[in-house]
Amino acid sequence: MSEDLTSKQTNPKEIRLTDYRSPEYTTETVDLTFDIKDGNTEVRSKLHVKRCLDGVSELLLNGQDLELLSVVVDGRALSGNEYTVDSETLLIPELGAEHDIEIVTVIKPEENTALEGLYKSSQMYCTQCEAEGFRKITYYQDRPDVLARFTTTIIADTERYPTLLSNGNRMRSETRVDGRSAVTWQDPFPKPSYLFALVAGDLEMIEDTFTTMTGRSVTLQIFSEAHNIGQCDYAMDVLKRSMRWDEERFGREYDLDIFMIVAVEDFNMGAMENKGLNIFNTSCVLATPDTATDAAYQRVEAVVAHEYFHNWSGNRVTCRDWFQLSLKEGFTVFRDAEFSSDMNSRAVKRIEDVGFLRTIQFAEDGGPLAHPVRPSSYLEISNFYTTTIYEKGAEVVRMYDTLLGTQKFRAGTDLYFDRFDGSAVTTDDFADVMSEVGDKDLTQFKRWYDQAGTPLVKLVERYEDGELSLDIVQSCASSPKQDAKAPYHMPLLIGVLAPDGAPLSFYDLAVDSSEEVRSSADGDSLLIELRNEQASLNLSSFEAKPVVSFLRDFSAPIRVDYARPDDELAFLVEHDVNGFVRWDALQSLWVAYFSGASELDLAQLIGKLGEQATSNEDAEQLQLIAMMLNVPEMSYLFEALGEFEVDTLLRQRDAVIGTIALENVDIWAALYEQYFADGAFQPDAKGMAQRGLKNAAFAYHVRNLRGSELVSTVQRHYQGADNLTDRRAALKAALTEPDFPVEARTDLLTDFYDKWRNEALVVDLWFNLQAQSPVLTLDEIKALEEHPAFDMKNPNRARALFSVFGMLNHSRFHAIDGSGYKYLADAIARLDALNPQIAARLSAPLTLWRRYDPVRQERMRDALSTLTTADSMSKDLYEVVTKALDN
Ligand code: TRP
Ligand code: ZN
Repeated sequence: MSEDLTSKQTNPKEIRLTDYRSPEYTTETVDLTFDIKDGNTEVRSKLHVKRCLDGVSELLLNGQDLELLSVVVDGRALSGNEYTVDSETLLIPELGAEHDIEIVTVIKPEENTALEGLYKSSQMYCTQCEAEGFRKITYYQDRPDVLARFTTTIIADTERYPTLLSNGNRMRSETRVDGRSAVTWQDPFPKPSYLFALVAGDLEMIEDTFTTMTGRSVTLQIFSEAHNIGQCDYAMDVLKRSMRWDEERFGREYDLDIFMIVAVEDFNMGAMENKGLNIFNTSCVLATPDTATDAAYQRVEAVVAHEYFHNWSGNRVTCRDWFQLSLKEGFTVFRDAEFSSDMNSRAVKRIEDVGFLRTIQFAEDGGPLAHPVRPSSYLEISNFYTTTIYEKGAEVVRMYDTLLGTQKFRAGTDLYFDRFDGSAVTTDDFADVMSEVGDKDLTQFKRWYDQAGTPLVKLVERYEDGELSLDIVQSCASSPKQDAKAPYHMPLLIGVLAPDGAPLSFYDLAVDSSEEVRSSADGDSLLIELRNEQASLNLSSFEAKPVVSFLRDFSAPIRVDYARPDDELAFLVEHDVNGFVRWDALQSLWVAYFSGASELDLAQLIGKLGEQATSNEDAEQLQLIAMMLNVPEMSYLFEALGEFEVDTLLRQRDAVIGTIALENVDIWAALYEQYFADGAFQPDAKGMAQRGLKNAAFAYHVRNLRGSELVSTVQRHYQGADNLTDRRAALKAALTEPDFPVEARTDLLTDFYDKWRNEALVVDLWFNLQAQSPVLTLDEIKALEEHPAFDMKNPNRARALFSVFGMLNHSRFHAIDGSGYKYLADAIARLDALNPQIAARLSAPLTLWRRYDPVRQERMRDALSTLTTADSMSKDLYEVVTKALDN
């Protein structure tokens, strides 16, 4: 009937944006009945379809891995020769203008390890339909530009599945004599099939209410399996805060009377914005001090808000086709980032996001899988849920805000929601609205959607007789299938500082530029709208040579080549008013240091920052300092340095950490003791700042210790911890310090495991820390797979081992004999048979082979090549591997 999921895909069909055609028929209503029984679920689907284009008579439905029982049109059962069915479609010919169609299929959720469509996680049934999972449930027009009203009835065993949920409002429920119940849900809002959701399980629930800005009361419910229900309160708090924030900041009110979140343990991504029924990976919803690190708390805050915000940016206004994915994802990431900025510190959030963008998105954008924010073709859409679509897409939205100013940007989003409510639109529609309200030609700006690659802006600075001039040149390297790039329209935000560190006002300067420029209302910064390949900026009437603070707030997602003396960068670290530039200047110094171009004593600079932290009280300043105390991660350096050799860089980085530790020995000891007892755990900015400082100081402090003193200090840190962030720091030290005795390390790991073995997310961390440990051998890491708690089928667990190994264990993954690459490739091949989406994602580290030295390049390509020789390969993995080897 249908093709095996893992059958070899030799020539998957390329889907192209230029082939887009609006649907010939549309589905207006769909009435689904799920009869859930062990081993198979029967899905009865009643469609009301209507012709949209004159002269057409064929209805094309998508379907995959379905057993088709019957097709009935207007009450008449079709015989097998009255329709055509293949492994991906069901075609019903000879139709008229309007019909009622009933289709019955059988699916097997228990066997669904791909976690797409209807599947079983622990004891519960749940769905994941984005992007093309609905076609694994029933034959349907599974495309985002078909919006239908859904009614869903779920029938299941009452005792085992007392909780039966779907989108919209609960209309009816009945308990039957046969021990089964039926519940019917109706969603009043027309929606594409990717937003459909169903949950059946034995779940606990917490409930709250929210009163909207117009005074409507909304019931809020979070569901999870009983053992997790005690960890849902933080998410509920975030949900209420994000609902209020979206009203205040974007004027967006929630529209149904109920909003539900369900936490599931097996989930491919972070979470899903199904209408009125968001489904979450437990990792993005559960949070208590003992089970979530500060990073995890922040992730819960961001993802709960993100999915909620999709109700407008994604659900009420959706995407015409999947090439427009960034329309909803880029915009919604921008919205959740703004929310997190308002909840915590704007500068801290910006720095975290830029660090991520530079490490992961720049790598993607410079590699063989580079694609534009609006791609023009794909083989498998699941592969395009990327940092380019999400994070670079969010940067593009941020640039509208910067170019138009916050007021006009808000007018633009108001108009966008108003004009397109209930429809499926494109990134062009979004751009056109912004152009209209901003009264600005954004034709050139749209290149951000079409051209892949990270632009490079090169600056040359001259100063003479009170006049500072900057020559600005932009370029962008070629990308797969895109050789030449045209110049971008980008906002560059700059400031200037006097030699004593005082910010200078642009109102006091004469400004002359080849580009459009305007200063901020307070005069502190200047916005240059770079449009040309070459541009100039001249500033005059300085009394002495100023220091330029460039690309404040990271106003455009670009690389910068701006050769400047070490002391100017150090000056910016100390004096700039822009938190991002302070951090950025320090990263530039680090990059110069690792490329052998800096003479500055960075150990002393870091020590000075550590000292400042002992006397500062401001939570934001402390968080900034905490971030600046850490030497950039290897993966950040891989992307920032043009040339490097992995082992040499690892040694250099390790050595400089040792120097920072040793040369400031008293500072770290003092800072550590100062923050060791930092009061009861709070997941707020102050608490996070304190733990950030404590753990940065702790890491340097233990670097100076040996033998029993090392062990007892780590043990004390571990034992004294009242939260997972601190416990993690202790375990990390035991798994990083080469002198840490094996026996003491094993004791700590065993203790941690025994205490938290029932908390899946904590056990994930236990695997994660070992998978990234440079002191464990590859064999020891491989042995983790034999641990009874390891489970290939659980994405969080698989990621904790394999993804962490490939992305963070640089010494073992990049072992020169290629053993690390082989290990990852082998894991990918095994995973591909179970879960293609996860397998394709895990290959990312191997696709970046071009960054490394010739020997490693060859070994990485070898590892990728072995994947192509497997008997079977999913479409997902095929696309990633062939593109990686092609380019
Ligand atoms: N739309 C989801 C988000 O909020 C992404 C997502 C969740 C997803 N699950 C998925 C995408 C499975 C592809 C496959 O970002
Ligand atoms: Zn999203």
